[in-house]
Amino acid sequence: MGYYMFLLTLTCLLNFYTIVRSDSELQIYIVHVELPSAPSLTSFVDDLQGWYQTFLPSTLSISSTSDEPRIIYSYRNVFKGFAARLSLEEAKAMETKPGFVSARPQTTIPLHTTHSPNFLGLNQNMGFWRDSNYGRGVIIGVLDTGINPNHPSFNDEGMPPPPARWNGICQFNSSTACNNKLIGARYFRIGNGTPFDEDGHGTHTASTAAGNFVRGANIFGNANGTAAGIAPLAHVAMYKVCTSTGCLESDILAGMEAAIDDGVDVLSLSLGGPPTTFYNQNIAIGAFSAIERGIFVSASAGNDGPTPGSIGNGAPWLLTVGASTTDRKIRSTVVLGNDEQFDGESTFQPSSFSSTLLPLVYPGGLPNNSGARFCEPVWLRNTNLTGRMVLCDEGGIGRIAKGRAVRNAGGTAMILVNLPSQGYTTYSDSHVLPASHLSYEDGLRIKAYLNSTTSPTAIISFRGTIIGDNRAPNVASFSARGPNRASLGILKPDIIGPGHNILAAWHVSVENNINTNSNFNIISGTSMSCPHLSGVAALLKNAHPDWSPAAIKSAIMTTADQVNLAGNPIEDETQSPADSLAVGSGHVNILRATDPGLVYDTHPEDYLPYLCGLNYTDQQVGIIVSRVVRCAEIASISQTELNYPSFVVFLGSGNSRTYNRTVTNVGDANSVYSVGIGALPGVDMRVEPSTLRFSALNQTLTYQVTFERLANTTSNTVVQGSLTWTSGRYSVRSPIVCRFI
Ligand SMILES: *[C@@H]1O[C@H](CO)[C@@H](O)[C@H](O)[C@H]1NC(C)=O
Ligand SMILES: *[C@@H]1O[C@H](CO)[C@@H](O)[C@H](O)[C@H]1NC(C)=O
Ligand SMILES: *[C@@H]1O[C@H](CO)[C@@H](O)[C@H](O)[C@H]1NC(C)=O
Ligand SMILES: *[C@@H]1O[C@H](CO)[C@@H](O)[C@H](O)[C@H]1NC(C)=O
Ligand SMILES: *[C@@H]1O[C@H](CO)[C@@H](O)[C@H](O)[C@H]1NC(C)=O
Ligand SMILES: *[C@@H]1O[C@H](CO)[C@@H](O)[C@H](O)[C@H]1NC(C)=O
Ligand SMILES: *[C@@H]1O[C@H](CO)[C@@H](O)[C@H](O)[C@H]1NC(C)=O
Ligand SMILES: *[C@@H]1O[C@H](CO)[C@@H](O)[C@H](O)[C@H]1NC(C)=O
Ligand SMILES: *[C@@H]1O[C@H](CO)[C@@H](O)[C@H](O)[C@H]1NC(C)=O
Repeated sequence: MGYYMFLLTLTCLLNFYTIVRSDSELQIYIVHVELPSAPSLTSFVDDLQGWYQTFLPSTLSISSTSDEPRIIYSYRNVFKGFAARLSLEEAKAMETKPGFVSARPQTTIPLHTTHSPNFLGLNQNMGFWRDSNYGRGVIIGVLDTGINPNHPSFNDEGMPPPPARWNGICQFNSSTACNNKLIGARYFRIGNGTPFDEDGHGTHTASTAAGNFVRGANIFGNANGTAAGIAPLAHVAMYKVCTSTGCLESDILAGMEAAIDDGVDVLSLSLGGPPTTFYNQNIAIGAFSAIERGIFVSASAGNDGPTPGSIGNGAPWLLTVGASTTDRKIRSTVVLGNDEQFDGESTFQPSSFSSTLLPLVYPGGLPNNSGARFCEPVWLRNTNLTGRMVLCDEGGIGRIAKGRAVRNAGGTAMILVNLPSQGYTTYSDSHVLPASHLSYEDGLRIKAYLNSTTSPTAIISFRGTIIGDNRAPNVASFSARGPNRASLGILKPDIIGPGHNILAAWHVSVENNINTNSNFNIISGTSMSCPHLSGVAALLKNAHPDWSPAAIKSAIMTTADQVNLAGNPIEDETQSPADSLAVGSGHVNILRATDPGLVYDTHPEDYLPYLCGLNYTDQQVGIIVSRVVRCAEIASISQTELNYPSFVVFLGSGNSRTYNRTVTNVGDANSVYSVGIGALPGVDMRVEPSTLRFSALNQTLTYQVTFERLANTTSNTVVQGSLTWTSGRYSVRSPIVCRFI
């Protein structure tokens, strides 16, 4: 008790005395602590704030520079700990205090910057959209750059009031900013004192997940149609934890903390850091607390594809979403002086643009100006582009910025061509001048034409909105790829969904140099695919309120599509078949996901043996699961043993490995499934039993699968295949990636 009094006094003192050093030397640290265990300290269990204060430096002296409290956030839900402004020395000094676990300076996490519902098989007044009530009653919490509450996508026509359990607030100054669609909006420290979106990203992602129906949505007249989110009757709660410069970890955690208290059902995070260990990924840490409370968490896989190992947000309790194309193109066709034609894309298609051939120039190909290939303004300064069609390579600066530079240097139009790694992934951007974005292959042919003639010419012919690209969906070049470096035994991404050239709400009117403007915009990224899957999760939550986050995830994964609209295997940006490290389980199929037959369920406590099996220390596991863990008392499992809906198997020469999986019947009470094995060359694969007979709903059955590496296989190679349980009505597929080590 005496100690407690002393600490209280100290806490009071802290309010009067602040810091020795200037604020500039203070950094925000994320500090993890354990709950007090000594009997003399148990009163702190109900006074977390007081407990956290005890970790602050006891040797503070007077400073005139700041009276802002040192602790900026006290966390309770996402973990036990706080975010505080500390010097390096002060952070070090905490390490000796009882209950201290870890302290790390926060980092900045980047953002992973309507036609899509129909593309996903959702049609107004029909089928699953109607049967799942358009996600009615489900609350989607979006952590992003804020929201424009006045956008028509957030009108609340047809929306019921929020469920009684909703506990959130609306921090807009105007009392009418929130409504039955946008039921909550909070900002955090980075937020400039308002949940308003000054960037566009948050307005876009929120409307993708749950925007209401808006007729006549278009950009510059293109992609015109009725826009709607995937769950148009779900409620939106915005947590502004980012600006256009990125997101602060302490704010992300505070946002998740608030969303859990507020009562969201689904969390959507279109942001993420590098693939480090999970106890260093604050999104993974916060998400673990969320799934423990039954909240589904969807996160973007990252935009560093096609580099192998670029997957972020790879924790198995998250749905990790990669990005794919849709079948809509806003076509802008380049016609060369020799009549060769190349179909590209751009949203800005002025009808006044002349159809006279223009001289074509490639600044990057001019003598002594190879630096100009990216059309960066500084390199175009001394080049006369007046009246010319200008060829620019992707890279260096933004695509729209290139167009601006070309226009400022006198250019009339722009052809933008991909770098080799970007292949056939081209963008419909809101350019400021007539433009066409072409693939790398097409770019090579245009460069060959330039070489072949002394007076190259070209025109751009605008063809408007074209639906029906039957190579869609394919994996966008930027979509992050496995292996999942944070956990090599878990296949990621889990799923791909629309994330390329997505039309959704924008915070301001998009303008270009002509008079057209639009309150919708087309942008691309796994940031865009993540909220599509958040919307899907909301539809499934409505249809199956008793399903766990893992069951919803399994349903989405085991029913995914493997083929494109032409019926061929889904391709990547090179137009060759995409592997499981690019597509995960495949492309989301909403209609099938609602009725998967069987699910691979996982309970939050099942992740403990998995985390111990990653060889994390007790403390590191404790950071993730927010409680004291002793791995010695838990039977650790290898990553492949987690009851996951996909497999990554490592086989040394002569190795054989056996794994158990448990499936839960959510289809027909009486049903019989038999196993099918999709080619896994070099592996003898056996499944025991090969038939699963269910006689009741919710019944679980376990099967064993054995992978045996054949003698004639080569180490350091990867083979891929699948395992599928089929009944008359259902097909439950798991992809398999097998590495010979
Ligand atoms: C909202 O009101 C607060 C307090 O009155 C003020 O500090 C803030 O600037 C206002 N924000 C906006 C966006 O008007
Ligand atoms: C968009 O389509 C609607 C009808 O579906 C039509 O009334 C409107 O004029 C169209 N807008 C544009 C810009 O084409
Ligand atoms: C390119 O630069 C070299 C060396 O600076 C110079 O001698 C040459 O004349 C330049 N050529 C052109 C076409 O400007
Ligand atoms: C730039 O090129 C245009 C068209 O070829 C020409 O009319 C103009 O005189 C040139 N300007 C300069 C500064 O060379
Ligand atoms: C065009 O010519 C240049 C210089 O001769 C050469 O480096 C380049 O590879 C050629 N490009 C194509 C696409 O043929
Ligand atoms: C953990 O350590 C064990 C024993 O050293 C090893 O076999 C296993 O591969 C390690 N697991 C991981 C994920 O590194
Ligand atoms: C796997 O399942 C089999 C049969 O149900 C059981 O005998 C075995 O103990 C299980 N193995 C593990 C590692 O759980
Ligand atoms: C299946 O389990 C869920 C969750 O435990 C429960 O809500 C549901 O009623 C069960 N269904 C049947 C048919 O037993
Ligand atoms: C490896 O051996 C199996 C039979 O054991 C055979 O079916 C397969 O074709 C062989 N593969 C190669 C690459 O030789």
